[in-house]
Amino acid sequence: MPASSLDQIVSLCKRRGFIFPGSEIYGGLANTWDYGPLGAEVKNRVKREWWNAFVRSRGDIVGLDSAILMNPKVWEASGHVTSFADPLVDCKSCKERFRGDKLLEEKLGVEAAAVLKLDQVKAMLDAEEINCPKCGKRDWTEAKQFNLMFETKQGVVKGEGSSIYLRPETAQGIFANFRNVLQTQRMRLPFGIGQIGKAFRNEITPGNFTFRTREFEQMEIEYFVEPGKADDAFEEWRTAVWDWYTGLGIEKDHLRIREHEEEELSHYSSQTVDIEYEFPWGWGELFGLANRGDFDLSQHEKFSGEDLKYTDPDDPEKKFLPHVVEPSFGCDRTVLTFLLEAYTEEELENGDVRTVMKFDKRLAPVDVAVLPLSKKEPLIEKAKEIQQMLLAETNLVVNLDVTGSIGKRYRRQDEIGTPLCITIDFGTIGEDKEQGDPDTITIRDRDTLKQDRIPIGKLREKIAEYWKN
Ligand code: GAP
Repeated sequence: MPASSLDQIVSLCKRRGFIFPGSEIYGGLANTWDYGPLGAEVKNRVKREWWNAFVRSRGDIVGLDSAILMNPKVWEASGHVTSFADPLVDCKSCKERFRGDKLLEEKLGVEAAAVLKLDQVKAMLDAEEINCPKCGKRDWTEAKQFNLMFETKQGVVKGEGSSIYLRPETAQGIFANFRNVLQTQRMRLPFGIGQIGKAFRNEITPGNFTFRTREFEQMEIEYFVEPGKADDAFEEWRTAVWDWYTGLGIEKDHLRIREHEEEELSHYSSQTVDIEYEFPWGWGELFGLANRGDFDLSQHEKFSGEDLKYTDPDDPEKKFLPHVVEPSFGCDRTVLTFLLEAYTEEELENGDVRTVMKFDKRLAPVDVAVLPLSKKEPLIEKAKEIQQMLLAETNLVVNLDVTGSIGKRYRRQDEIGTPLCITIDFGTIGEDKEQGDPDTITIRDRDTLKQDRIPIGKLREKIAEYWKN
């Protein structure tokens, strides 16, 4: 059962070192979050799974790591300068600013709110009697378009730098490098370019923890196909992405696919579907799949004056701009989804409730915890020896946890989702036959709570078997 409230996850993340409020010692900076040691590990694992599944193991996709700062013409060509905006309304009473469509979403549903025209937003807020969430009054301005791009200055002389944008999506770095990749990697259609990286949007109403922030990470693929073949690729990607999420432990019932209405489509897209997750506050976008046609490549041809056409290797007379299907994943939203989905409260036989993060074992931040039963020196020494052996002979993250009673340590490891705990006791070091034979340890499974006593010599084999299943 996933977390039923966001607070459960926010507090566990802070308590256990997954995610901290940003700049906390200075009183924070609203809606910024820092991934702590465990969160950074989970996030890296999500990125690793994504990269392995979509870039390394397919054979038709190559990777890229392009710059965040790009020539401003890129954003003119892409349409972001003119069209990347949300409807902003001001509360005249308390001066707070809101996204008009988001205020309406709760009442009308996402489909109805997303297709409203700019000049309909204020009238709908009044008609639906939606008051300011901050001061409770209803005194809205007309909605105006608010561009979400972060602008900054490049250059060392104060006041004289030229304006430049932080990229609002990683996708344009891919389009701008299309020809470089095509030529150097000798790619043949269909093929894709994938990249993971930061994106920045000056969101009007960030919130819901890491769901909507102004700085976030995306994992995007631009998949290039011959014109006329985009529909098939679109269907293949819809299935591949669904399978990736469910394969890593998201319940099918907690996901749904939502097709965008025509009026809702972004300026570049002829078809878009979102995969949505049932967050504690309702359904929200986790991933977007768009058919971008040849919009981006033809715009970049026009604005750069460069030839970006693909030449058919089997027929050099055949030159054309490929069409593009874009699977776009929010990395932070994906991590948040895995955190929410893993959160489980279980009643034990003795009536106690244990909180356990049931991550897929590929995503848990610690793979194995080694727990000496007491703080006695010979036990700690043996535990360190076993930890060092596993670190040297496997590529697992192996923690040594010595603080607190053994019960408390099991609870701590459950709360961070460690799949296997190894206990070293006086039997292990040959001092208490009743606890177990010399050179044997106890290995405990996070999910089944089953404990096995095995010889240390069989530990590697046991662990390998566990990770194989
Ligand atoms: N290149 C296409 C594109 O950027 P998008 O739907 O605007 O499409 C893709 O963004 C994904 O990026 C979303 O599905 C979401 O997961 C993530 N995302 C977008 N804005 C975000 C924000 N402000 N905070 C966190 N994640 C965000």
